[in-house]
Amino acid sequence: MNRELKFASAILTFLLFTSVSYSQSKTTETTLHDFMEDYTKPASKKAKKGDKAALERILKEVPNFALDDQKAKWKEISDAAIASGDLESSCKNCHKEYKKEYKKSYRKRPIQVPNELISFLKNSK
Ligand code: HEC
Repeated sequence: MNRELKFASAILTFLLFTSVSYSQSKTTETTLHDFMEDYTKPASKKAKKGDKAALERILKEVPNFALDDQKAKWKEISDAAIASGDLESSCKNCHKEYKKEYKKSYRKRPIQVPNELISFLKNSK
């Protein structure tokens, strides 16, 4: 009995770890444009009503979606907005510098959004 119990709990532990690492490694492919429309825009509306959690998570993640040579700059913009508490300042700061070119040349470029972030954002809508 004791041995069976140990065996069963070993299996359960194994399943738990594989499912956790699986869900963490999974991503959903989309475009930056759609991510902005589907998640950033609604999160920004929520932030204006006082609930900033979702937008803050997004701003932490957004630099990962940048072109390699723009990552550092995107992170600077997002970090500055988070540090100042004025999350909305990031929209304009990034858009005026990067949106036009991105839209023109990279509109269809795929990005990988962690599923964990998506489910967090869906639950907080
Ligand atoms: C660090 C960069 C960055 C930040 C911060 C950022 N965006 Fe964007 N956003 C972009 C880029 C680049 C595009 C163009 C994507 C495309 O069209 O392919 C875009 C496009 C959009 C679009 C699609 C429609 C349009 O205007 O082209 C919306 C809506 C949007 N952003 C909302 C927001 C909001 C709201 C915020 C702030 C809360 C924000 N974004 C912050 C980079 C950023």
